[in-house]
Amino acid sequence: MSGTHTFVSRRQFCAGACQIASCATLATFVSGCGDGSPTGPSGGGASKLPSLSGQFANSRVQVNTAGTALADVGGAAVVESVAGVFLISRTSASSVTAIDAVCTHEGCTVNTATADQYVCPCHGSRYDRSGHLVAGPAKASLRQYAATLADGVVTIAL
Ligand code: FES
Repeated sequence: MSGTHTFVSRRQFCAGACQIASCATLATFVSGCGDGSPTGPSGGGASKLPSLSGQFANSRVQVNTAGTALADVGGAAVVESVAGVFLISRTSASSVTAIDAVCTHEGCTVNTATADQYVCPCHGSRYDRSGHLVAGPAKASLRQYAATLADGVVTIAL
């Protein structure tokens, strides 16, 4: 009699243990998903940058600034081209910075920014307008390219 009671208790114990293990596994999975999910468009105060099309030819990407976010000092935009995606920032009346928009952490396209930093929408890495790493999880800065601004056209040398 007590053997049956012990057998049932073991069954109940095993069933309970499996439920606990399943829940623990699920909690770990959900927690892991949460760590890897985008922080959302706000990205800690960041907003999405406007997107512009760049024209690629002769190892250069060019984009016209007229009527865009790059027309004014302080403006920034994501420039997409067949040669890659770049973050362009208008730093003065006659200068811009151009950096690779591929995050050095896990390769997301960095396309949001605060007033003075680019922010990766995936896990929140931050880079200054020259591409230097400000905060991880990324461990390396973004690649910077030589870029000029003349007659309202940004030219990125690849
Ligand atoms: S891909 Fe993870 S922070 Fe950019």
